[in-house]
Amino acid sequence: MHLGRLKEGYVLKVNRYLVDFDSEKMEAEFHDVLIIGSGIAGVYTALEIDDKHDIAILTKESINMSNSVLAQGGIAVSLDKGDSPEYHFKDTIYAGAGLCDEDTVWVLVNEAASNIECLCTYGVNFDKSGEGELALTREGAHSKNRIIHAGDTTGKEVCDKLISEVKNRSNVTIKERTFALDLLKEGNTCKGVLAYDEDTSKFKLYLSNLVVCATGGYGQIYENTTNPEVATGDGVCLAYRAGAELMDLEFIQFHPTVLCHPENRSFLISEAVRGEGAQLKNIHGERFMSQYHELGELAPRDVVSRAIFAEMKKTSSDHVFLDITFKGREYLENRFPNIFKTCLGYGIDISKDYIPIAPTEHYCMGGIKTDVYGRTNIEGLFACGEAACNGIHGANRLASNSLLEGLVFGNKIATEINTYLSYKGGKQQEFSFNYNSERTLREMDSTEAINSVKRIMTHDVGIIRNREGLSQAAGKIAVISKEINDMKNDSIKDFELQNVVLLSGLIIDSAIKREESRGAHYRSDYPNTEESWKRHIVKKVESF
Ligand code: SIN
Repeated sequence: MHLGRLKEGYVLKVNRYLVDFDSEKMEAEFHDVLIIGSGIAGVYTALEIDDKHDIAILTKESINMSNSVLAQGGIAVSLDKGDSPEYHFKDTIYAGAGLCDEDTVWVLVNEAASNIECLCTYGVNFDKSGEGELALTREGAHSKNRIIHAGDTTGKEVCDKLISEVKNRSNVTIKERTFALDLLKEGNTCKGVLAYDEDTSKFKLYLSNLVVCATGGYGQIYENTTNPEVATGDGVCLAYRAGAELMDLEFIQFHPTVLCHPENRSFLISEAVRGEGAQLKNIHGERFMSQYHELGELAPRDVVSRAIFAEMKKTSSDHVFLDITFKGREYLENRFPNIFKTCLGYGIDISKDYIPIAPTEHYCMGGIKTDVYGRTNIEGLFACGEAACNGIHGANRLASNSLLEGLVFGNKIATEINTYLSYKGGKQQEFSFNYNSERTLREMDSTEAINSVKRIMTHDVGIIRNREGLSQAAGKIAVISKEINDMKNDSIKDFELQNVVLLSGLIIDSAIKREESRGAHYRSDYPNTEESWKRHIVKKVESF
């Protein structure tokens, strides 16, 4: 058992594996490559690996359930005549508040266009302008129009086409309802994963020297989030327990404009709506963004979210409004069909009514630390997409850089894997290990514990933080971590609880350590950005 000591002296209990197992008594399957997760990063990586290699995609729900599918706005790529990768680079760096890794950002912006071309060859149908070119819109902190889109359901269009392509690949096996619990290793070399098959309720080994972790983020640690229920940070935790380094966990992005309706507090109102001119107004109908930033409604996301939060406090309200009523109904129905229809379902006609919105958890900048090729500090383990942290987002992600990240670095990982397999060959043949934690296990209700974690994180680890709140949160999470340490984990909900508690503890600890305000991490007790803090906080399990 590892006792992670949180900064405040509290202890986070972590076991190397979530369950005891004996490999000799278990069924095993062998593949050249395992990809965990079926969002854009996982599926695109699978498509970019040579089709002579045998790949398994493990996904804990059905293949089309991911955060990528919900992405509305689009994908950033500098295609306009007046635009260039240099401008895209500058905007990404500016939004990232001094913490982006510049070399990696250059790769992102320089390789954006070739990967978008590749998406188009898979049949992805982006909106076109009158001249038949890809239509470009703007989002927050972009100095040019460079967001390509498919209506307001860009993620769905991209994922549908990629999934349909991957289903036709005979070298790819898709394992749905298969939860990857833990990484198997020999020394520091990856050997595969221990997984749970929900249909048979059995544990199974998937063996491979190459594992790509593309499991997405961990938005489900907050009460309100735009993320689907599957976003519980399982891949990040699996990597951490196996000894992978995690980075930048304290930076959690709150999207400024999420519907705030008694029946729905998670539906995103895309930043592209502000890109098309929508204005933010407080409950008295007054515009306010010019008091907070020269870019007004199109300031970086962290700035807009804090400004809205401040207006909500000033006016003692749980929301402000987004006003796009000056655009005609026909235009809005065509440009934002999903937003139009969904809001109408709640009695809000966006061509006539202001939309009540509030900032809500949306994206995790931190994750498994990787280099520009998606490699982690564990040999054979790669990470991609929101699960990864390669430094492109810094302290605050620029809008519409996330789907792009999955493509560009999915392609980079595939190239690495193709090279590896051409030299070293595929399937390894054996793995033998018996793990017995010698704990006396007891039944526990995971739902109540998960809800407690969400309450703690929302209350004390949200948009505005301070030492007192973070310290209290650390203490409460340490208590839960102790309670669940000897819990009998025998369902996906139980595994998720373990991961949610572990991640929350690590996020809080990073947030306590960073004694400054930068990007999405705002400390009311340290409101300034400090040059001495222009560095990353990296977390690694000490020992087992
Ligand atoms: C949005 O459409 O506002 C979300 C896009 C993103 O998160 O980059």
